[in-house]
Amino acid sequence: MGRLPDPLEYRAADHQIELLFLRRWSPRAMSGEPLTDEELRRLFEAARWAPSTYNEQEWRFLYGRNGSEHWQTFYELLVEGNRAWCGRAAVLVVVLSHKFFQRNGKPNPVHTFDSGAAFENLALQGAAMDLVVHGMAGFDRELARRTLEVPDDYDVEAMISIGRPGDPDDLPAELREREVPSGRKPLHEIICEGPFAF
Ligand SMILES: Cc1cc2nc3c(=O)[nH]c(=O)nc-3n(C[C@H](O)[C@H](O)[C@H](O)COP(=O)(O)O)c2cc1C
Repeated sequence: MGRLPDPLEYRAADHQIELLFLRRWSPRAMSGEPLTDEELRRLFEAARWAPSTYNEQEWRFLYGRNGSEHWQTFYELLVEGNRAWCGRAAVLVVVLSHKFFQRNGKPNPVHTFDSGAAFENLALQGAAMDLVVHGMAGFDRELARRTLEVPDDYDVEAMISIGRPGDPDDLPAELREREVPSGRKPLHEIICEGPFAF
């Protein structure tokens, strides 16, 4: 039986950082086993503590557990490429963000940014718990809005697949080959002191 690769065998930081950042990656192989209620709450608890503009906390999470009455609704939102590996997830999540400030109803220019921070908190907590947490853009946003009854003042941001690590050998061949922790651009390609000069 194959095991998920250890990201620390594939990744090294160029400058000293907490190893949790390197340990977080996006595997696709999951076992199909459920998460406990407490495990799921710990993940969302981490998201809850993300920073946001004016402490707006504009993120919302809808979820469906595998085997529950809601599962099919969430699973059917996914594009075919994501369905191919999400069948063994324990939970599928749809991330929403409220687009307007609660205090004055004006448009909030960073609602997407803030919900991304909440996602990353959740992902890092998942990595610390040795769970798979995998963000997804490949799903039907309009269908999500309709079937999950999302009001117009919320954006549908992304989906997240969560589960226990599985056997990469169970993945379709082309995904099995990609089941390896990725690298990153060098720092000089993403930072610049002063005006834009990339
Ligand atoms: C918002 C977002 C959307 C993504 N969409 C998909 C997706 O639809 N399907 C998929 O297999 N991976 C998806 N990914 C995973 C990325 O490909 C992955 O995060 C990236 O390659 C970096 O690898 P790492 O997360 O393992 O470090 C998504 C990631 C994020 C953050």
